[in-house]
Amino acid sequence: GETVEVWLSVQEVPCAPDGYSRTCMTFNGTVPGPTIHANWGDNLVIHVTNNLPSNGTAIHWHGVRQLGSVEYDGVPGVTQCAIAPGDTLTYQFRVTQYGSTWYHSHFSLQYAEGLFGGMVLNGPATADYDEDLGSLFLQDWSHVPAFTRWNVAKAGAPPPLDNGLINGTNTFDCSTVPDDTNCVGGGKKFEAVFEAGKKYRLRLVNVAIDGVFHFSIDGHTLTVIANDLVPIVPYTTDGIQITIGQRYDVIVEANAAPGDYWLRGGWVSACNGLPTSDGITGIIRYDNSSTADPTSTSTVVVGTSCDDEPAASLVPHLALDVTNMPVITTEDLAWKIENSYFKWTINTSSLVLDWGNPTLLQIFNGEDVFPTPYNVVEVAPSGTGPEWAVLVIQDLSTFGISHPIHLHGHDFWVLAQERDTFNGTTTAFNTINPPRRDVAVLPGNGYLAIAFLLDNPGAWLVHCHIAWHASQGLSLEFVESQSSITVDQADKDAFNDTCNAWNEWKQNE
Ligand code: C2O
Repeated sequence: GETVEVWLSVQEVPCAPDGYSRTCMTFNGTVPGPTIHANWGDNLVIHVTNNLPSNGTAIHWHGVRQLGSVEYDGVPGVTQCAIAPGDTLTYQFRVTQYGSTWYHSHFSLQYAEGLFGGMVLNGPATADYDEDLGSLFLQDWSHVPAFTRWNVAKAGAPPPLDNGLINGTNTFDCSTVPDDTNCVGGGKKFEAVFEAGKKYRLRLVNVAIDGVFHFSIDGHTLTVIANDLVPIVPYTTDGIQITIGQRYDVIVEANAAPGDYWLRGGWVSACNGLPTSDGITGIIRYDNSSTADPTSTSTVVVGTSCDDEPAASLVPHLALDVTNMPVITTEDLAWKIENSYFKWTINTSSLVLDWGNPTLLQIFNGEDVFPTPYNVVEVAPSGTGPEWAVLVIQDLSTFGISHPIHLHGHDFWVLAQERDTFNGTTTAFNTINPPRRDVAVLPGNGYLAIAFLLDNPGAWLVHCHIAWHASQGLSLEFVESQSSITVDQADKDAFNDTCNAWNEWKQNE
């Protein structure tokens, strides 16, 4: 592999992505940030400079396995100290997967302010297409900083959001906020041009903080070729539901009658607190000189269920059964979620992270991580052969809302997703080549059972990707095979420099 070097400056800029002026947090001044391109096997070297005036940051490469490089996973309080204003951290890791993903700030609610971008990791061809249109980001958007909304979230209610964006752009009707001088207008809808007969690859990413989208293009079908970073046996559908953090790679053939068509991110209103309108739209044109609004209509039904695409559709290309592998017992890893006013808890505790004293620092310093008052769990293989951890998360909250559960450092096999109470046995588990991915829905009032291979020593987060919920403690942390965590001296030095800079800045703040 080659070395691919990237420079990212985290900075605030004035923005008006939908014609409403505010301040965005950006990578290099744009929302979305620059796309990172690399090939399977490359070494990525990414210099992140924090140019925010008064905030720490830390950047996570969502879905990237970080095999042997846990110190670059980008979780402040777990795998690193926050990067202080003015400081730079160089992330270095190997690309061991291929497909589509995204990177985003993992510091508080910063990605809601614009701190995200695409990652396109090229590997062996898994589909035929003529043109790659790159990432297509579906996003919810607030006209005031998400941090302001946070006060509403803390009081227990899902905070209202104002709009949605496709690739960082949309229109907004200023007449709905008559005296608001920040509404300057001039927002644009996302547009792409199709040439009749060509096949296009779109890399769908849901980068929302609270929204589930149902993606479709009027008059066209989608051939789905990958979920998250896992190639699947292609299937064809007229629309696809995508929850926060998930990706779907789709091929669209320009085989409709030439004209203008709506591209839709339908809002699945049951799953979030967004406006219950028709969702967000962009435009596909066959003639790039056309400026008309499409008149196309959709026959796609946006359901009210927050569930994932059915497991039967998401068949990994590379068949891997979970059947004949030793399974670590489920007992110790059965979690309960309860909502007590504004905190989400797992086994009665909420994860609280100290940005200046991450788990890895404690490990490097030879301090005892355990016992901890929080959800930090030790997992380690007992010795022989590939070994699995099976995690069952049961939702016992009174709300019954679904949660997109994301695991760091691993892909997981989705064994069960039921609107039911887990009966303590594995009889309902799907172990024959089940879906494999890095975000899956925990159905409201139900349970999610996932298995992952214990092959990556480190400290890894598993959390709900609804930004409010993660900040409300709906996370737990695995310390995997602690004694096997190895880090080069140079990486350890960089790690310590980041911590020293952060703690110094904190003191002088
Ligand atoms: Cu997309 Cu823990 O992150």
